[in-house]
Amino acid sequence: MNPVSLFDLEKMAKQVMPHNSWEFVDAASGDEITKRRNRTAFEDITINPNFLIDVGHRDLSVEVLGEKIAFPIMVAPAGGQRAVHPDGEQATAKAAGSVGTLYTLPTSSGYSIEEVAEVATGPLWFQIYHFNDLVTELLVTRAKAAGYKAICLTIDTPIGSPKERDVRNDMVRRPSHFWGSLRDRPDLAALREVGIPDMADWSPPGYAGLTWDRLGWLKDLTGLPLIIKGVRTVGDAIQAAEYGADAVVVSNHGGRQLDGTRSSIETLPEIASAVGDRLEVFLDSGIRRGLDVLKAIALGARAVLMGRPLFWGLAVNGEAGVRTALDILRVEFDRAMAYCGRTRIADIDRSLVTLPSEL
Ligand SMILES: Cc1cc2nc3c(=O)[nH]c(=O)nc-3n(C[C@H](O)[C@H](O)[C@H](O)COP(=O)(O)O)c2cc1C
Repeated sequence: MNPVSLFDLEKMAKQVMPHNSWEFVDAASGDEITKRRNRTAFEDITINPNFLIDVGHRDLSVEVLGEKIAFPIMVAPAGGQRAVHPDGEQATAKAAGSVGTLYTLPTSSGYSIEEVAEVATGPLWFQIYHFNDLVTELLVTRAKAAGYKAICLTIDTPIGSPKERDVRNDMVRRPSHFWGSLRDRPDLAALREVGIPDMADWSPPGYAGLTWDRLGWLKDLTGLPLIIKGVRTVGDAIQAAEYGADAVVVSNHGGRQLDGTRSSIETLPEIASAVGDRLEVFLDSGIRRGLDVLKAIALGARAVLMGRPLFWGLAVNGEAGVRTALDILRVEFDRAMAYCGRTRIADIDRSLVTLPSEL
């Protein structure tokens, strides 16, 4: 069967993935309320299309931190891709590049920073979880040397916590699936014990030593643009701008960390209007349809990232499967533009959507 939608791909992935891998990817934290809300909130936003506009030629391209991408959908950083397919992050990076978009390599990648850069054909960002200054400095400077274009600091995982489904399943994470970038540094292996997010054996780092006032330190390590991922509130978005970040990802980690927050799309409008032009604003969590992308852009995002669907694609067909996931979203988004009378990303404006509170 060829997947017609991402939901088809999800079903196919569930059929082929070992139970524990499926649960690792699908799970969210607590009662998974935020994860569900990530979908229902998108569904509750309605669209106001305009017709009798020449939409014969559509340009979906957009610039993100100075990099031109072919359409405003990027691939989120997500650890453990080798647990789902042996080609893991290398396959995902190649798939993203092949369709003209950008990939963010996670700290906990099975392939190293350099191994992914060697095969990538499109722009890369590097995501960092901060454990201590030594590891952060080592990894971000290697990312810069390997040609990554920006550093993406994930802030919404101050301590580790396993998902309940993983605990029930006795989910075991193989270091080779998560720690490619530290493979050659057995001397640093002990650092794993200080606690690495998304590992099963947690002992929290608590983000000791990395607070807002040290963002300048992080930025100066590479001089690359700095993206703050995991922003849930206007307050934190403003802090990001004040302390010199270049962009934020409005994200709740796909509901995988703190449960009980609003969905990203619900918080996006207030965050986007609070930061204005000071930061580029991206969004993830719950993107499954081209229409979701349109809604996010109408409410202030410059581009979006997809998380779980990359694992579905990988599990079903490796690199080609991730490309399929991106193609499905791109085609749906292109169609949504045409149906709404929009031919350029800049034309996707606030009048295009109505929030439930405005009905
Ligand atoms: C299996 C899995 C692992 C993830 N690992 C990371 C990670 O290492 N770093 C990070 O910043 N986000 C991580 N995320 C979160 C994603 O970057 C993204 O925020 C989320 O998946 C978006 O929601 P979606 O899955 O509904 O698209 C992970 C997500 C999944 C599903």
